[in-house]
Amino acid sequence: MQVRLTHDAAGHIQTGALVVPFFSDTALDGAAKEIDDKLGGVIADALAAKEIQGRLGEHVLVYAKDEPYHRVLAVSLGECARFEPSFLARYAGSAVRFLGRRNVEQIAIALPSQAQGREAACASFLSEGAITGVFETTLYQEKPDRRNAMTEVAIIAGDLNQAELERGIARGTALGNAVNLARRLAITPANLMTPTRLAEEAVKVAEQNGLEIDVLDEARASREGMGSFLSVARGSAQPPKFIVMRYNGDPSSKELLALVGKGITFDTGGISIKPAERMEDMKYDMSGGAGVIAVMSAIAKVKPKLNVVAIVPATENMPGGKATKPGDIVTAMNGKTIEVINTDAEGRLILADGLCYANKLGATKVVDAATLTGACVIALGHASSAAVTNDEAFVAQFLAAAKPTGERYWQMPYYEDYTNAMKSDIADLKNTGGRPAGTLTAAAFLREFVDKTPWIHLDIAGTAYLENESPWQAKGPTGTPVRALLSLVESLAGQADVGVSGNGARSAELKV
Ligand code: BES
Ligand code: MN
Ligand code: ZN
Repeated sequence: MQVRLTHDAAGHIQTGALVVPFFSDTALDGAAKEIDDKLGGVIADALAAKEIQGRLGEHVLVYAKDEPYHRVLAVSLGECARFEPSFLARYAGSAVRFLGRRNVEQIAIALPSQAQGREAACASFLSEGAITGVFETTLYQEKPDRRNAMTEVAIIAGDLNQAELERGIARGTALGNAVNLARRLAITPANLMTPTRLAEEAVKVAEQNGLEIDVLDEARASREGMGSFLSVARGSAQPPKFIVMRYNGDPSSKELLALVGKGITFDTGGISIKPAERMEDMKYDMSGGAGVIAVMSAIAKVKPKLNVVAIVPATENMPGGKATKPGDIVTAMNGKTIEVINTDAEGRLILADGLCYANKLGATKVVDAATLTGACVIALGHASSAAVTNDEAFVAQFLAAAKPTGERYWQMPYYEDYTNAMKSDIADLKNTGGRPAGTLTAAAFLREFVDKTPWIHLDIAGTAYLENESPWQAKGPTGTPVRALLSLVESLAGQADVGVSGNGARSAELKV
């Protein structure tokens, strides 16, 4: 899917369909008004007849037989006062999903007047939404019952700042493709997306984008002392892989951001085996890892002035004759011993060594992302991911960078009580802390492996994949946390203007 700029006026565009925005509570204006006037008020009529309620992403289609654009799709941006630039991703996604499924291959899409002065951010969201909108889950159907025919989206430049629009398109295209990459890696079933395959995909991303890559096999991981990571792999016939990708955007600096992603390619629970119901969803247990691999592709294209390393410990969690048993004690890279109470609490075991390795590489800031706890889904549902930190200033910067992206993160607390809950009678730590505050005892466990480095843990168990589709997004994998991580990287590099708030504007100026 290609996103480009067009300088043609809305009324003269030769295309499969013209897409125009409107607000549910104000009169048509801009391109929508111009086209509506030309077509004798058909759009206004459809809206007046309350064909739709006007929620974000709802739309009306009218045919314009004698016009070069054939059809007009008017898509709602919701209420005017609540507008946020990220809604443009949903606006474009809704249009592309609706029209692409009807075999429309090309569209021209208009921006609302709110884009004035923040062209780069708005064009980025539009591009991201268009590209993520075409993603379908029918990857393995011989004759897909849903396919999206869209190949080209042209953004109507009008009198907006062209250079800024182009900058936004480049950034949004890199981001949208990264989001779709994360989704493809995540949805691919575990018989295909083995640790070996995940490592091969990372190598491909690195080669295509000029990134450094290092994949540690079991022997090397063992020499590094990754006893916690390798304890999870013991029950599996698939060899584990420890993936390390590096982007050097600021070689003269010692600052290094580490992004550590959980790469469990399938989580059966191990000897503490999970019930059968919905176990198939556990192919998504590498979503954090997929996200950090994918965001590296966008980082390489956006080229922020920052050094970033992505670390993905990848393995299956299987039962078997060699599998780790409840009560076994394992030793992480930093020498801490862990009593494995429940083999289904495996994510924290592999992340422990991932975090130690980040420390070894000299990370000065660390973010981990993981589908870590069912408790997180109980606490926040599918509405938000959880964020836990050891550094309030760092998490404040992260939350500010993430907020405009449309991905939601809710900070949850750290108390020493949670660390106490993870103390073992026989080893330094145990890997479960009982039912209370399961997300936070898991975070407290991880905290033992980051020392004093500013660190944020993201639990994406409820947001990495969704059971329902929306007008702008297929059901299944969402690409969380790719958008927020790219924005964080830009923010740390002091280049937050495109992703976060428009043409050099600060995020405080956004009405959010
Ligand atoms: N991968 C799961 C967490 C999960 C559950 C993600 C549901 C997405 C949806 C994780 O490895 C796990 O099994 N966690 C256990 C921990 C418990 C044994 C302390 C859980 O949440 O039940
Ligand atoms: Mn588990
Ligand atoms: Zn898991």
